[in-house]
Amino acid sequence: MASKAKTVFYCTSCGNESPKWMGRCPACGEWNTMKEAPVEPKKGPATGGARGGSVGTGRRPQPLREIDDSQEARISLGMGEVDRILGGGMVRGSLVLIGGEPGIGKSTLSLQIPLCCKDLRTLYVTGEESARQVGMRARRLGGDSSYCTIFCETLIGAVIEEAQAMGPDLMIVDSVQTMYTDTVDSAPGSVSQIKEVASALLRFAKESGVPVILIGHITKDGFIAGPKILEHIVDVVLQFEGENRGSYRILRSIKNRFGSTSELAVFEMTGTGLREVANPSEMLIPMHEQGLSGTAIAAMLDGTRPLLFEVQALVSSAVYGTAQRSATGFDARRLNMLLAVLEKRAGFHLSAKDVFLNMAGGLKVSDPAVDLAVICAVLSSNFDFAIPSDVCFAGEVGLSGEIRPVGQIERRVQEAARLGFKRIFISSFSKVEVKPEGIRVVKVADVPALVKALFK
Ligand code: TYD
Ligand code: MG
Repeated sequence: MASKAKTVFYCTSCGNESPKWMGRCPACGEWNTMKEAPVEPKKGPATGGARGGSVGTGRRPQPLREIDDSQEARISLGMGEVDRILGGGMVRGSLVLIGGEPGIGKSTLSLQIPLCCKDLRTLYVTGEESARQVGMRARRLGGDSSYCTIFCETLIGAVIEEAQAMGPDLMIVDSVQTMYTDTVDSAPGSVSQIKEVASALLRFAKESGVPVILIGHITKDGFIAGPKILEHIVDVVLQFEGENRGSYRILRSIKNRFGSTSELAVFEMTGTGLREVANPSEMLIPMHEQGLSGTAIAAMLDGTRPLLFEVQALVSSAVYGTAQRSATGFDARRLNMLLAVLEKRAGFHLSAKDVFLNMAGGLKVSDPAVDLAVICAVLSSNFDFAIPSDVCFAGEVGLSGEIRPVGQIERRVQEAARLGFKRIFISSFSKVEVKPEGIRVVKVADVPALVKALFK
């Protein structure tokens, strides 16, 4: 009896499987994300493990204190900022995904790593560019290319076979969307291919101890193209962000099994590749003269590092009936909440005003300490009153208009003093025990007190 090839439907958002098509994924609730893919034949090493318990793998449980973690030794990738966001270098046998929109610089970054790193024998697998193209780029980037091998291949089985034979210190695969396996019938880049390719690379990394960097494209709405399941498979997800036209790029860790996830590194795209910006505050603080209203400097913390940057606001009378509110890099609901606090607790009438908010340098912030700079930027634009350029802010604003303390205030004050700021506004509930020279710490309890101290 002739039977039709079996297919299954995958949700491209969460990876949920279903035997029939549905308009809405029952697992994650997303609309129109179910895609058809052929059922994968069960070939090769099964990921599900032995069924029924009759077959063993020969592994035994081990006491925790006897586990040898010397294998976890980290290798340095030769770029200080990349090592730092990985948590101090790359762990052997780990699989790191670098995601980002096309053209952002993923290939450049991943090629710069073997060029910067003297004695790291690297296998650079590319399915996107020809060897000549990679060679041209490498010459433009400069550096020492004697330890790097380029392999143009898209069949993942062949890639892994080559890697096993060569035993490199690092493998880079550009990109997951171009690789395919012949155990699955669907086209490269489809959900089932991506899942298989990533799992094969993960198995290779874990078994051989070779660390693997995998590059993945991100769709316009900010998701790694293909399924969310890719993020579940890999150990570390680094996301490359930045405006395509601007020269600054931000690499952020959004998942890290071996370190913190709130780290962020800044790079500048130059004619000869990416340059690390070791001191991003200096680049995020404007060079314009005094006298511009609508800006305020926030002292935020990204992971473990203090970062000062400019918050910009524009408040103008609403032309249409309802006022517009828009926030770039900042939670729009939080902006609405802060505007409501200003209205209700401090008597500013902003309900008939359009409010636009922007975080400088394309940053996306979630640190609540930015609240204080946001309300100061809004008030500054509203009154057309410039805040002196040697003043910065670090505080959370509560619903009753109180200014709440934020974590690690001393490090923020220190960074502000280092960058030459003369005054920092913080919550009166914050304790600053060691105060650096040259900066005045102004403590304010609530929004009215802040307005009095700043605008009077
Ligand atoms: P690329 O690494 O190819 O992006 P991705 O792999 O993420 O798609 O980067 C491409 C952009 O970077 C391209 O617009 C040119 C620019 N670029 C430079 O400005 N300087 C350089 O030295 C290199 C190699 C690229
Ligand atoms: Mg590329």
